[in-house]
Amino acid sequence: MIVDVCVRIGTLQLANPVLVAAGTFGYGVEFQQAVRLKALGGIVTKTITLKPRTGNPPPRLVETSSGMLNSVGLQNVGLDAFLSEKLPEAASLNIPVIVSVLGESLEDVQVLCARLDDQPAVAAIELNLSCPNLTHASALMVAQDADATRDLVTAARAKTAKPLIAKLSPDVTDIRPVAQAAERAGADAIAVGNTFTGMSLDPRTRRSRLGSLAGGLSGPAIRPLAVYRVWRVSQAVRCPVIGIGGIVRGEDAVEFFLAGASAVAVGTAHFADPAAALAVLKGLRRYLARHRMASMQELIGTLRTDAVSG
Ligand SMILES: Cc1cc2nc3c(=O)[nH]c(=O)nc-3n(C[C@H](O)[C@H](O)[C@H](O)COP(=O)(O)O)c2cc1C
Repeated sequence: MIVDVCVRIGTLQLANPVLVAAGTFGYGVEFQQAVRLKALGGIVTKTITLKPRTGNPPPRLVETSSGMLNSVGLQNVGLDAFLSEKLPEAASLNIPVIVSVLGESLEDVQVLCARLDDQPAVAAIELNLSCPNLTHASALMVAQDADATRDLVTAARAKTAKPLIAKLSPDVTDIRPVAQAAERAGADAIAVGNTFTGMSLDPRTRRSRLGSLAGGLSGPAIRPLAVYRVWRVSQAVRCPVIGIGGIVRGEDAVEFFLAGASAVAVGTAHFADPAAALAVLKGLRRYLARHRMASMQELIGTLRTDAVSG
C-alpha cells in the first residue's frame, strides 16, 4: 500500500511530518555521518540569538524519571557565524531548514527575522517564545503572556514573508489565548511546545543537580501534558499545529496527530538514539499502512470521542 506522508505547514511543504526539535540536533550537519538526514521532514536548528551565547554553567543535563532536565542556556554561535558557517552546511543537506530564533528585545527579533528573510536556504523561521518578557516588565516568559506574544509575533511578521512558527511554552494555565494571540499576529503555525520548568535537587549535597537552579523538563514524562495542550490549541486556532513532547516511537507521534497536530518534532529521544526521528517516521508509516490510511489527512484530528461500545 502506498502511503502519502507529505503535509503542509502554511506555505511550507514537508515530504513527511517528522522534524527534529530545536536544540536537540545541533545545526543538523553534526549528525550526517550517523543519520540519513535526507529522510527527515526537516531540521529545526538550535535557537540562534543575535550575539553568540556561551550558555549556562555545567552540569546542564540531568536524567529524571522518564525524562531529562536541561539548562543549556541557549548556547549558540550567534547570527553572523550561523549565516556564514552553519547555514550553508545545513542547506547542503537538501531538506527544509527551519531556523529557531530568540530575541532579547523586539528590535533583536526584527533584525534576526529581516536577515534570515534574505536567505533562500531558510525554509521557515521558528520563534522561540520561551524568552524573558522584557517589554511587559514581568517575571513571565513571553509565551506566558498573550499580549507579549502578540507584540513579538507582530514585530517578527513585519520583517519576514517566510513561514513563521510560534513555539509556545506549555507552562501556562490555559494555552489557548496565547496560541490565538500568536495566530492573530500573523503566525503561520503554532508549535506546542517547549519544556516545562522544573528542578532536581540532590539531598546529599543539598544543591541543585544542574549548574543553574532550575531547568526545562522534556522526554516521555511530559508527553501526556503536551498531547493535551496540542488538542486544546488545535481546537482554538485555524493554522497548523506542530506537536512536540516526549515522542520516542511512531505511536507516540500518532497521539499528537489524533489530537490535531499536522507535524511533530522529536527532541530528547535523540540523546538515546541519534536516528530516533527516523524510527518515529518508520513507525508512523507502519501505523498508517496497518490502519489502511493512504495519507496523513486520514489521521490528523481524528480523535474519537464517542462512547466505547461493548
Ligand atoms: C538539551 C535540550 C536543548 C534544547 N534547546 C532548545 C532550543 O535551543 N530552542 C528551543 O526552542 N527548544 C529547545 N529545547 C526544547 C525542545 O526543542 C523540545 O521542545 C522539548 O525538549 C520537548 O520535546 P522532547 O520531549 O521530545 O524533548 C531543548 C531541549 C533539550 C532537551
